Amino acid sequence: MTRTMLWSPLVLMITGSLLLAQGPPEKNPAANNPHLGNPQSIRSGMALYRIRCADCHGLDAGGYRGPDLIAVMAAGTTDERLFQTIRKGVPGTDMPAANETDAPDDDLLMIVAYLRKIGSVAPTEKPVGNVDNGGRLFAAQCASCHRVAGRGGRIGPDLTRIGAARSRAALIREIRTPSEFIPPSYETVTVVTKDGQRIRGAKKNEDVFSIQVMDVRERIQGFVKANLQDVIYEKDSLMPAFGPARLSDGDLNDLVGYLSSLRGADLSVR
Ligand code: HEC
Ligand code: HEC
Repeated sequence: MTRTMLWSPLVLMITGSLLLAQGPPEKNPAANNPHLGNPQSIRSGMALYRIRCADCHGLDAGGYRGPDLIAVMAAGTTDERLFQTIRKGVPGTDMPAANETDAPDDDLLMIVAYLRKIGSVAPTEKPVGNVDNGGRLFAAQCASCHRVAGRGGRIGPDLTRIGAARSRAALIREIRTPSEFIPPSYETVTVVTKDGQRIRGAKKNEDVFSIQVMDVRERIQGFVKANLQDVIYEKDSLMPAFGPARLSDGDLNDLVGYLSSLRGADLSVR
């Protein structure tokens, strides 16, 4: 057997895998969207938007749990980028990916056409607030429970990129009435041990036999349920409500201005 004969399959394998790794150039149907400006497509896009997006981004796309999409477009995002974000979602956040079986390219292109149509209206000016004062308020009233860029407490969620993730409306509602929406791993529980000790905190994990709680001193404690007297599930958030008596409307506006400026790292797929 000659050397060449031994080597050629290997060479083929290597070049083959290089070709595979390189893959075909990424297609982006939004580069040529036949639905842009077409009234019928825009109506279909609106219907799809209401079903798939409005819960999080608001009926008028002004944002709710998800960001204000009119503002995102006003900031100059491209149709290709919009399409990619809708297709792939934003990994590690609440923004879901859309798979091609129940959301074919055409549906997404109609949603983009609809968004462009409503996005052509200038966004209403929103009061920005005094970001410096907002930062001071945050350090004094919020940082004991929330981390920003690696500093602060862990009882509440990390807020490093909360400005990219939530609309102003959602931030205001969260600060004024935190118990209205509590994400799964922050539900409030109190466990009562057989000897009557009570530990209150955020429920991090639970199965039939055990429960894990982060107490208000940030210690994670695990309990076997059989050893407990009781587990009390509460509807109230661990976060206190900051009503108008505690935080004036002006201070709230400054605080929201500060939070909106927290945009951390960009996680979206380009
Ligand atoms: C379950 C809630 C949810 C649903 C449903 C949802 N989104 Fe989102 N979306 C989010 C969140 C949260 C973010 C912010 C992600 C982050 O932290 O960057 C986001 C981000 C985005 C962004 C990126 C904004 C930017 O800053 O560039 C776009 C565009 C977007 N969503 C469009 C849509 C569209 C269109 C739909 C419907 C097809 C949709 N989303 C459905 C929650 C949602
Ligand atoms: C005693 C601890 C504590 C304090 C103080 C506190 N928070 Fe929270 N925060 C939490 C917890 C726990 C949650 C998650 C449960 C919930 O959503 O209510 C939360 C949730 C939030 C959210 C929602 C995050 C998301 O991903 O949607 C925001 C925004 C927020 N807090 C802002 C603030 C601001 C602003 C302040 C100060 C004015 C503050 N918090 C003070 C504990 C706290």
